[in-house]
Amino acid sequence: MGKERMLVTGGHSLEGQVRVSGGKNTAVAVIPATLLSDEPCTIENLPDIEDVHALADILAELGAKVDYEPGRLMRIDPRPAEGISISYHNAQRLRASYYLLGSLLGRCGHAKIPTPGGCEIGTRPVDQHLKGFRAIGAEAGEIGGMLTAEGELTGGDVFFDMVTVGGTVNVMLAAAKAKGNTTIYNAAKEPHIVDLANFLNSMGARIKGAGTDIIRIRGVQYLHGSTYAVIPDQIETGTLMIAAAATGGDVIISGCIPTHMEALSAKLLEMGVKVTDSDDAIRVHVVGPRRAINVKTQVYPGFPTDLQQPMSALLTTAKGTSIVTETIFEQRFRHLDEIRRMGAHVRVMGRTAIIEGVSELYSAPMTATDLRAGAALIIASLMARGTSEIYEPGFIDRGYEHIEDKLRSLGAEIRREALL
Ligand code: UD1
Repeated sequence: MGKERMLVTGGHSLEGQVRVSGGKNTAVAVIPATLLSDEPCTIENLPDIEDVHALADILAELGAKVDYEPGRLMRIDPRPAEGISISYHNAQRLRASYYLLGSLLGRCGHAKIPTPGGCEIGTRPVDQHLKGFRAIGAEAGEIGGMLTAEGELTGGDVFFDMVTVGGTVNVMLAAAKAKGNTTIYNAAKEPHIVDLANFLNSMGARIKGAGTDIIRIRGVQYLHGSTYAVIPDQIETGTLMIAAAATGGDVIISGCIPTHMEALSAKLLEMGVKVTDSDDAIRVHVVGPRRAINVKTQVYPGFPTDLQQPMSALLTTAKGTSIVTETIFEQRFRHLDEIRRMGAHVRVMGRTAIIEGVSELYSAPMTATDLRAGAALIIASLMARGTSEIYEPGFIDRGYEHIEDKLRSLGAEIRREALL
């Protein structure tokens, strides 16, 4: 695809109802997990995003039979898959390509994956993943740009030094069919960890404790086929909530899981925005001025780092001074350098951003530096006077399904054009 830019004209308040797509972070774990199955699987509610397209290509590259209907489902017959490695090109297409390491190790006791690409938000080491594989009986290492893992898995105790989503996923994948039992201590508790455990259990795996910080996995020999729908996207839900709040709008976000959104809902309420939950929908309604707040990113159920960028964009126009502290990734404020060009008053000191709310932002040309930074630029542009240009919108396509269509259906003026 050639170069493109997004054009966003601000000043329209978003109104109406919009439906959330299936979760990116759960899809990128569940699709590699199908390789562990001894029978065909069908995964439903998959978002039509670049990361999912890349995984369809990767499974096909490994030899699996993949029948993919974008935006709907993917049927995967893993039985013909014989590969234990994927191409550099495909590995660079998404960060989560390293989940193939856990799933291939669990499937055939051997995997070799090029160190993945993905978003540039700071160094993203994989030492904990490798340590986890070693603890359950594999030899694992990183050499010459390749991650390797090999061995007959016996299971074991895994103690993570820090809470890592990717490490937890990778060890769950590898351990599901190990010869013995595995316990993961200091496990991540994100909703997609629970979703992955539910999917594996639906195939006959025996995983308990997902959603708490101790996960126990009893290795099984055989996993049967399953038809499984992934949960709605927590971060898309949050981005739409923030977009509604940013534009002074009144939006119902349907098809979501409100309990996954409590950290964000609490912060929006603190700003003075009305947030009302029902079973599977959230209404975000702006009734008066939005006040400055402090935000500190934390592992789930704390405030998610993936929403820090859209949230800090919103705070550039809140009344007063906000302090945003990023505790998970060290380079996650690059979007603020771009938004500063729109007239925002922001100072970044290490992992802290001090944001003095201004009454108005002005349109500017900007570049998305990663997926959630791209979403933050859209939020800022929706608030700004004039038409902003967002370059490198491809980053946004990695994780948001048809974002322009969804925002346009709520009254936003947003479009994309090819660059000559
Ligand atoms: C996942 C999410 C991402 C989210 C992040 C934090 C997916 C596909 N991606 O990323 O959207 O922003 O969780 O919620 O689910 N770390 C190490 N060594 C390791 C692994 C991690 O030092 O071996 C560090 C990281 O540098 C980071 C922290 O641990 O500072 C958390 O990272 P982790 O939870 O692993 O994030 P990802 O799985 O990459």
